[in-house]
Amino acid sequence: MHNRTIGGITVSAIGLGGMPMSIEGRPDEDRSVRTIHAALDAGVTLIDTADAYHMLAGETGHNERLIAKALASYPGDTSDVLVATKGGHIRPGDGSWQVDGSPAHLRQAVEASLKALGVNVIGLYQFHRPDPKVPYAESIGGLKELLDEGKIRLAGISNATSEQIDIAQKILGEGNLASVQNQFSPAFRSSEDELAHCAELGVTFLPWSPLGGIGRAGELGTAYEEFKQVADAHQVSPQQVALAWMLAKAPVVIPIPGASRPESIVDSAQAAELTLSPAELASLDNA
Ligand SMILES: NC(=O)c1ccc[n+]([C@@H]2O[C@H](COP(=O)([O-])OP(=O)(O)OC[C@H]3O[C@@H](n4cnc5c(N)ncnc54)[C@H](OP(=O)(O)O)[C@@H]3O)[C@@H](O)[C@H]2O)c1
Repeated sequence: MHNRTIGGITVSAIGLGGMPMSIEGRPDEDRSVRTIHAALDAGVTLIDTADAYHMLAGETGHNERLIAKALASYPGDTSDVLVATKGGHIRPGDGSWQVDGSPAHLRQAVEASLKALGVNVIGLYQFHRPDPKVPYAESIGGLKELLDEGKIRLAGISNATSEQIDIAQKILGEGNLASVQNQFSPAFRSSEDELAHCAELGVTFLPWSPLGGIGRAGELGTAYEEFKQVADAHQVSPQQVALAWMLAKAPVVIPIPGASRPESIVDSAQAAELTLSPAELASLDNA
């Protein structure tokens, strides 16, 4: 597996998104653990999660505990795996996603995530989503305190505009914004500007829902003929082509495709080795 970096830490060029294993439609725990183990077997060393990846009230941290359990039961070495979690979203259990970006909430959320992950320091902690009720600088100030106190090793943000990326850079201090995680896929390209901004700044960009999201990922080849054509030419899946296309956009890009089945992440991981020609990339850009 080819590697890339986040805040100076080397990780696989394709990560695993943990959300489908813990929200609505999730599989049983055995299949989830097999999925995470398959990712590790394939060389994946970045796993994305969040305290809010759960379904029912009272099970905050479901996905974090699942990942910790799968890492603990993996027979191989997992010391090089970076687990990236997030705080700032709350799921009351009625299907909704609410936000709390107050520094007080982030502090309490970090303490809960440390316990759920069973670690002393969180590898990468991302502020999940701006809270309209809290000035952005105030939320990022809370993140900086957690970084300064050593509760988190790296700090990242998610669902951020270029302006918010600049605010985070300024408040966290030079070189302390490790990553930006925004939605980006063949179906959703409006974060091209933030991706380009991250490439200029040398900040890692983690495209979320890179295959179009749970429930839509399987249709990528039918929805986008160009992705199917390139896939057929390379005898790979259209999903691999989508991931290789975003990897080619900039060296700072690390897609985090979700999976709830071993086959899905094994296929997606192979995108790290797929090289597309300039003509193919141009046709995908215009698809
Ligand atoms: N920061 C945020 O606000 C935010 C929001 C959403 C998501 N995320 C993160 O981003 C990750 C990825 O997004 P996502 O899970 O919403 O959507 P996604 O990655 O676009 O799609 C996930 C679905 O793709 C399927 N899939 C994966 N690889 C495949 C392949 N090679 N061929 C065919 N199907 C494949 C999986 O199916 P199976 O389930 O059948 O394996 C899975 O259900 C999440 O898991 C989460 O970690 C972050």
